[in-house]
Amino acid sequence: MTKLPPMIDGKAIYDETFKEKVMRLQSEDFKTLYENEYSRIEKMEGGFDAKKNRPVPYRFQVLFDFMKDGESVLDVGCNDGYLGYLINENFPNVEFNGVDISEKAVKQCEGNVDGNFKQLDIEDGKIDGFYDKVFLFEILEHLKKPEDVLRKCFAAVRPGGRLFFTVPIEKNVRWYTHLHEFDYVKVLELCEGVSDKFFVYRIPKMFEKEGYKLFFVEVVKK
Ligand SMILES: C[S@@+](CC[C@H](N)C(=O)[O-])C[C@H]1O[C@@H](n2cnc3c(N)ncnc32)[C@H](O)[C@@H]1O
Repeated sequence: MTKLPPMIDGKAIYDETFKEKVMRLQSEDFKTLYENEYSRIEKMEGGFDAKKNRPVPYRFQVLFDFMKDGESVLDVGCNDGYLGYLINENFPNVEFNGVDISEKAVKQCEGNVDGNFKQLDIEDGKIDGFYDKVFLFEILEHLKKPEDVLRKCFAAVRPGGRLFFTVPIEKNVRWYTHLHEFDYVKVLELCEGVSDKFFVYRIPKMFEKEGYKLFFVEVVKK
């Protein structure tokens, strides 16, 4: 089967290497990029309400085994709040907080999820407060400096708390706004930069498709 090239505004980019793509993306305004990306995906997926009947992504199912009632959590890159909605439903006593670079995404969260939301570019902005759990799901690969953001977010975890992140396993999941590809060694280096206690799990599915797709990582704050 022919592999489809990545799409930008409906046009296929045939002749771009990964390095060229990274250089091009680095020069873009990320806020505009993700506002457009949010609108595009929202249109494609049929909006928030349609998600209520969708399968729960495997990364969220894995996370639910770690959730405890009464905790406060921060979801960085919360998108339209689907994870928040699922946590509201399954863990009603968890305080949910979310930030996203996209204002449109944050507005959707405010309309659909019980929680506190804020528009924030995590690369430049400051995190308010401390949390029992901080989530960075499917976002580090989109950032200019994932290691700096990981450090900043880990600093917002309370002692005894956890930071969870997922990243696509190199070459298994490609998306046109990805600036980084991760393999096991890169994931270990990222974790070693913040803590000496962490666990890396391979997630066999992203949604319903088969094949190893993601690293799911639990980083422990002592
Ligand atoms: C691939 S989506 C993942 C959404 C969600 N965490 C999940 O697992 O389904 C990446 C999200 O990160 C947000 N994002 C990208 N760059 C960001 C930044 N610099 N600061 C905050 N959010 C950002 C995007 O707007 C988008 O909602």
